[in-house]
Amino acid sequence: MAVVQKKRMRSGSWQREALEGMDSYEFRQWAELLEKRTGINLPEKRKSFLQTSLAIRMRELGFATYQDYLRYLLAGRRGAVEWEILVDRLTVHETRFYRDQKALELIRTRYLDTLSNQDGPCRINIWSVGCATGEEPYSLAILVDSHLQRRRVEFFQAIVASDISSAALATGRQGIYRENRLRNLSAHTIQRYFNRVGEEHYQVVPEIRDRVCFTRLNLVRLAERKQAQMDIIVCQNVLIYFARQKRLMILDTLARHLRPGGMLVLGAGEITDWEYPGLENMGAPGTLAYRRTTQLRSEP
Ligand SMILES: C[S@@+](CC[C@H](N)C(=O)[O-])C[C@H]1O[C@@H](n2cnc3c(N)ncnc32)[C@H](O)[C@@H]1O
Repeated sequence: MAVVQKKRMRSGSWQREALEGMDSYEFRQWAELLEKRTGINLPEKRKSFLQTSLAIRMRELGFATYQDYLRYLLAGRRGAVEWEILVDRLTVHETRFYRDQKALELIRTRYLDTLSNQDGPCRINIWSVGCATGEEPYSLAILVDSHLQRRRVEFFQAIVASDISSAALATGRQGIYRENRLRNLSAHTIQRYFNRVGEEHYQVVPEIRDRVCFTRLNLVRLAERKQAQMDIIVCQNVLIYFARQKRLMILDTLARHLRPGGMLVLGAGEITDWEYPGLENMGAPGTLAYRRTTQLRSEP
């Protein structure tokens, strides 16, 4: 809100009109568009966030009213390109390396520790759903690499990192982060898995970057997407922005992408009272995780 007010004082009259207020009809129009296209549910209490984000973008483009900007967004190819930019502004990309240490510990003890080379090198397919700027998938790749190397288990890992925001994915692909973003990592991990770039940045080493494939995927369209079966699916701090019905639809689809024995790891507050045939709650304190035990009904 502060941004809106500061800019409003400096700006011309048409901007004042655009920034001053969004009536409840307009709010509903924008909230419905966002929910339809992304699944994100925007409650009325986040109206000022919506207004501020729209106002900043409208000012960049020179739009005077929410309606003019909406018309532009809904028009053809030009609107589709603009939507990509706006979606990045309307999504929350907060993340960090080793953000949920309990979840990583669970993956280490309940999955990685069970692997051995009895039938040749292990193949591990991981999916980071809603990966934002890449810290989550790189944390998973570093966890697997460091842990299995220490245990001298031969392995091949491939990580799919998906998000709706093209800008966030571009940051992830580069794998360059400011020094302060690495604060959860030990000096040893930084030294082993990052190269210094300039004075204040570090880049994830190529061996780890090459293991992570960043791809744009809108969870609302998840069911249309062909995706390999996964050993581990991590979806944290994503579904909290969705209405319950959408969360359930997405979770059911994610469950079908899990191999028998695989783990679905969610944020602790991602869902309550969800059950799926063939998945058992791993009962892990402080984190919400499921293991797939059997063949699922819809599978051949
Ligand atoms: C708060 S971040 C979570 C990052 C990471 N998973 C973590 O826990 O640190 C939420 C991410 O979900 C993404 N997101 C929101 N709606 C989405 C959708 N419909 N499809 C795919 N990704 C979406 C956002 O772009 C954002 O990067």
